[in-house]
Amino acid sequence: MEKESNRFEPRIVGFFCKWCTSSGADLAGTSRMKYPPNIIPIRVMCSGRVDPTFVLTAFAKGADGVLIGGCHPGDCHYLEGNYKALGRYHILSKMLEQFGIEKERFQLAWISAAEAKRFVDVVTRMTEEVRSLGPLKWPELLKTVEAESGVLKEQLEEAIASQS
Ligand code: FES
Repeated sequence: MEKESNRFEPRIVGFFCKWCTSSGADLAGTSRMKYPPNIIPIRVMCSGRVDPTFVLTAFAKGADGVLIGGCHPGDCHYLEGNYKALGRYHILSKMLEQFGIEKERFQLAWISAAEAKRFVDVVTRMTEEVRSLGPLKWPELLKTVEAESGVLKEQLEEAIASQS
């Protein structure tokens, strides 16, 4: 069995809605529920406030995973913020997968203020999933993407030149 001290500990940034998931996390804490300490929580007013650039910045700054937590559908304090978050989530996950970022590294969960147990379960599961993937290594991924886009650019320029 791997020694605890040698185990990879992923850094997971959590963008949590103040009204639900953030309160669910507080409830888990005050109820003394145990969950992995790998989450770096960032409170936002609504999951709809999470701009895609927040997620990309988190990965670029060293996060191994990003979790967005919001109110259940129909419960958003701003009516449709979580639907906006869901739409962005689907688009961004597809884009991240194109860059080779596994879907387990970017997740969205609806967790209410009363769902401390669900908060613990989601965070525990995601931490295990990301831990088993290992570190993200974003700078190396970026180099690969840049190299591939450089080749694509050359091919496109050749194709354009051959037609003129
Ligand atoms: S207020 Fe919680 S997701 Fe909008």
